[in-house]
Amino acid sequence: MPQLARRMSRAKPSVIMQVAEKAKRLKAEGRDIISFSIGVPNFLPGEHVYAAAREALAKDSGQYGSNRGTDALLDAFIEHMAKIGMTGYGRVNCSTGIGAKHILYNLGEALLDEGDTLMFPVPYWTTYLDIAEILDAKAVELPCPAAQNYKLTPAQLDAALAEHKPKVFLFNNPSNPTGMVYTRDEIAALAEVLVKYPETWIITDDIYNRMLFDGLEYANFVMFRPELRERTVFVDSLSKTYGMPGWRVGFMAGPESVAKAVTTLNSNHITNVPEIATAAAIAALSGPQDVPTEKCAEFQAKRDQVMAAMNAIPGVVCPRPQGAFYVFPDISCAFGKSHNGTKIENDVDLCNALLEAKGVACVPGSAFGEPRALRISYTCPTPQLAPGLARFQEFFAELA
Ligand SMILES: Cc1ncc(COP(=O)(O)O)c(C=O)c1O
Repeated sequence: MPQLARRMSRAKPSVIMQVAEKAKRLKAEGRDIISFSIGVPNFLPGEHVYAAAREALAKDSGQYGSNRGTDALLDAFIEHMAKIGMTGYGRVNCSTGIGAKHILYNLGEALLDEGDTLMFPVPYWTTYLDIAEILDAKAVELPCPAAQNYKLTPAQLDAALAEHKPKVFLFNNPSNPTGMVYTRDEIAALAEVLVKYPETWIITDDIYNRMLFDGLEYANFVMFRPELRERTVFVDSLSKTYGMPGWRVGFMAGPESVAKAVTTLNSNHITNVPEIATAAAIAALSGPQDVPTEKCAEFQAKRDQVMAAMNAIPGVVCPRPQGAFYVFPDISCAFGKSHNGTKIENDVDLCNALLEAKGVACVPGSAFGEPRALRISYTCPTPQLAPGLARFQEFFAELA
């Protein structure tokens, strides 16, 4: 009997999907389930996006496309980046892929040899560890607990870069799962550290860069230390900003050599981003921005609602997020307690008990490397948010 490749013993199905599947099953059994689990934006793009897709369909070329992405798509992305201050990129600096996940995986293949070190802050987006494991790279995790607002400090980064000399430092801002956003000053201070370690590639997975609250502005290391441009790769995506996760369009901008490598991998893996999705992406990036702007304001109001609920639960510690659509409370105060006779030893027990008892689905923090917390994704339909939060509070009040 032939065996699967060894790397498949390291690749694991996504824990987030497992929770979502369980919630779906309970719902199918007739249970009243409120899902705070999957990180989908839960809105659709504007009509102009669908119009562009229909027009592209009517004019289908019937051909393969460009491995890098069409010029029009690259230009739309370059203009889009410029609006958040990421200027100075040309087509040769950019490439596209089937979502940011695919871009990140391509970057892993392009930059990491077996045994190389991929370093990232914890909590992390689950896929970072999976990429390291599938590529047989060494993952180095930098713990950033709630006590430090889930943010990496310059001193911590400095010590870790000196000790581990990673091939790649992978950074995510705003963060999934915490929703935390680094201020311009914080990014500038981290950039000062990064310039001292010229052997390390830097990836900034900043796909939530338009989902910022409280008037915060997006910042990237290259804005403060332009010399970092030669080894920094910016990753973006349509998925969250435009409510288009299923269209699967992601982007990167960085050094020419990296964009070329990602394009070469595309030529071997996917060939091109499909033509219809390309047309929709151009319309989303270049057309009216009302939908993302409105949704961002809506998410900010929902963030406030979730934070009010978290702050009202004794013992729960919850740094206040300023972006994306996640809240990441430290719920370790519940460990060692019971809910209706069910013992809660850890985050997984808590999420299971919460789902069983109250029909509320959250993702255990251990999926993101932080087992003292859980993730609430608050993109559910607005009428479900308050009842979901009330059930969450009830659950904590009933712990004994
Ligand atoms: C931080 C982060 N990066 C990348 C992705 C992948 O996005 P895409 O849908 O573009 O593959 C996600 C999706 O949840 C994410 O949260």
